[in-house]
Amino acid sequence: MDRIAIFISGRGSGLQSIIDAQKKGKIKCQIALVISDNEKALGLSRAKKNDIATRVFLREDYSTKITYEEAILKTLKDYKIDHIILAGFMKILGKTIIQPYENKILNIHPSLLPAFAGLHVHEKVIASGVKYSGCTIHFVDEGMDTGPIISQGVVEVKDDDTPKSLADRVLEVEHSLYPKVIDNYLKGKYRILNRKVIFEDGEKND
Ligand code: GRF
Repeated sequence: MDRIAIFISGRGSGLQSIIDAQKKGKIKCQIALVISDNEKALGLSRAKKNDIATRVFLREDYSTKITYEEAILKTLKDYKIDHIILAGFMKILGKTIIQPYENKILNIHPSLLPAFAGLHVHEKVIASGVKYSGCTIHFVDEGMDTGPIISQGVVEVKDDDTPKSLADRVLEVEHSLYPKVIDNYLKGKYRILNRKVIFEDGEKND
């Protein structure tokens, strides 16, 4: 069974949605490890409550980004991790981790990329006056929120939305979509062709 590591930096509600789906048998994998760059991340307690190993890597403990990522990579290998799932992880991964896990790292971002990449997403969405927002799940490359897009979920922006009310509705879609996409990914249903991701269900409808 494939072994996944989930990277978090904070609350971990996305992590929880993946744990819940796995426990219900909706994702066939072993959640072998949760990694955080923040020792205070509330998501760490969610992992511990579910008997999932946790490791914290503080950037300030390492002189360079490369040595930081080399330490994480060693742990990933020690835990025989096959795939990496970023769920509210706030650092940009470099080639030290991306290269050995090329097209095996997924991320979720709370906007319809390529629009509104980066931080303060919901504030920017509301300020812009767009009528729709949502979330994007993509393969991770060395850019920020720039990898091949796998799936998106759409949410209507309401006239009276605040960043919090919009975030809450987007988060609901995230929690529903990410486990489904991870399951499809682990079943090998996505193919990358010239940076476009093709969904191949594999069930021939003759
Ligand atoms: C989510 O909205 C995710 O899309 C973004 O940060 C938030 C993390 O929330 N990257 P949580 O830590 O999973 O609750």
